[in-house]
Amino acid sequence: MIKLAITGKGGVGKTTLASLLAHLYAAEGNNVIAIDADPDANFAMALGLTQAQAQQITPIAELEDLIEERTGAKPGSGAPFFKLNPRVDDIPERFSVKIDGIRLLIMGTVKSGGGGCMCPESALLKSLMSHLLFRESDVVIMDMDAGVEHIGRGTAQAVDILIIVVEPGRRSIQTAEAIKGLVGDLGIKRYYIVGSKTQSDTDREFITSSLPDFEVLGFINYNPKIREADLSGKSVFDADPAVVAEVRAIKEKLEHKEGK
Ligand SMILES: Nc1ncnc2c1ncn2[C@@H]1O[C@H](COP(=O)(O)OP(=O)(O)OP(=O)(O)O)[C@@H](O)[C@H]1O
Ligand SMILES: [Mg+2]
Repeated sequence: MIKLAITGKGGVGKTTLASLLAHLYAAEGNNVIAIDADPDANFAMALGLTQAQAQQITPIAELEDLIEERTGAKPGSGAPFFKLNPRVDDIPERFSVKIDGIRLLIMGTVKSGGGGCMCPESALLKSLMSHLLFRESDVVIMDMDAGVEHIGRGTAQAVDILIIVVEPGRRSIQTAEAIKGLVGDLGIKRYYIVGSKTQSDTDREFITSSLPDFEVLGFINYNPKIREADLSGKSVFDADPAVVAEVRAIKEKLEHKEGK
């Protein structure tokens, strides 16, 4: 149904937006799959899991026995042969946690090698990611790591829509431009901007006028309650109804643009 990835510069509010969208889609009765694709995983806490609960989830990339069983090679063993398309269909149910109707999967870090690493663990993650993205009738929301590297790695391949979060500042605008320059190669045709941490009309205007070639879906204004929720370990969804209303408007604009 809808498969989106959320990207942008570091610290702009990607995980905040991802968790709010996940809760909103789940509240409508959708089967939501939340994917934490950031090696520095913190989607779980934004969704409302406690630190203890979050730490109990083993990232897929660290499930060594599973990786060996499915690919035929031990992770990190440098084995030259392993399956490139391992079976993954049972993984979403077995290795996710469910919270408020949202199924969360944590991908984890592939430690060996650089961006181009092709090893058993990255083969399993790639296969899992495409499996999730090609499933029918789900809402998939992928929280990406900061910057542009993941675009080069192709992690977001097969998502329908990319949402680029920007804050009022030149560096995050620059990151948005860099992402746009790369998405064409991936075949992602739809990408939108969400402004974050804006505090005035001037801020919102700065974002809109700095990105004339993009569509801005809306804004999540600067709100101290978002930070407070983060500090106290509360779900962002419970932070403030005003924030939820802003994200609901963003979601509706998106659905309108997508003709739904
Ligand atoms: N609209 C907002 N108003 C106030 N604080 C915000 C807002 N959005 C996010 N924050 C705060 O900014 C910090 C970064 O937010 P978040 O983790 O969502 O960003 P991110 O882009 O996912 O970061 P990273 O690149 O590290 O993954 C958090 O402390 C969060 O509570
Ligand atoms: Mg994040």
